[in-house]
Amino acid sequence: MKNKIYNEDNIKTMEKIPDNHCHGIITTPPYNLGRNPNHRRKDQEDYNLYADNVDNLTEEEYLEVRTTEFKEFQRIVKDDGVILYNMSYSKENPMLPLLLMNKIHNETDLTVADVITWKKNKANPFQTSPNKLTRISELIYVIVNKKHLHTFKANKEISKINEKTKQKFYKNYTNLIEARNNDGIKSKNKATFSIDLVEQLIHIYFPPKSIIYDPFMGIGTTAKG
Ligand SMILES: C[S@@+](CC[C@H](N)C(=O)[O-])C[C@H]1O[C@@H](n2cnc3c(N)ncnc32)[C@H](O)[C@@H]1O
Repeated sequence: MKNKIYNEDNIKTMEKIPDNHCHGIITTPPYNLGRNPNHRRKDQEDYNLYADNVDNLTEEEYLEVRTTEFKEFQRIVKDDGVILYNMSYSKENPMLPLLLMNKIHNETDLTVADVITWKKNKANPFQTSPNKLTRISELIYVIVNKKHLHTFKANKEISKINEKTKQKFYKNYTNLIEARNNDGIKSKNKATFSIDLVEQLIHIYFPPKSIIYDPFMGIGTTAKG
């Protein structure tokens, strides 16, 4: 299935991917903002919680859909692989990512190993709010299999090895990544990655020739990076 474009629900795509096939995932899901004019209607014949244009689910439905996807991620990603899951939130529901991480921790073999802050190069000032801050950063959850919480694979460079003890020391990588918001491509999708971000993430976690899957590919930024 390499080098072929499948425009379909990621659950269908993942059915074609064998167990333990990928070294990891880099992705950002839809945020359920309720702004998509084509959003689902209960009376539609093809009503489907998992459809791409659905963005006004209840909180419970949203968490259920995302968790179902995570169960598939767990199957297709190698046990020592890593899932980099960027999840912002709508102003109305800042708890949503935390609720999702909690559900995944409780209902799958996966858990959060690290949290990275992606500092963007610009953000619109939030001047109508007397108390909320301008959101110039987003979080990227580093999700791994519980049995590899301390042994999952990354691509950190060794800086030196103690000759006596054979203890390895690695270059210093911090959990703050500064990267552009997007690549300036005019798209209906306002929540794209930047190649800059994707490249920095790949550099930290994935050696060359790794197989990386993005289940919410959008305009294809992960593939380009
Ligand atoms: C937040 S955007 C990600 C954008 C992407 N990172 C990029 O750089 O373009 C989420 C994308 O996932 C797509 N999507 C939503 N539900 C999906 C599903 N069930 N299967 C596959 N794609 C889906 C949306 O159409 C949207 O393009």
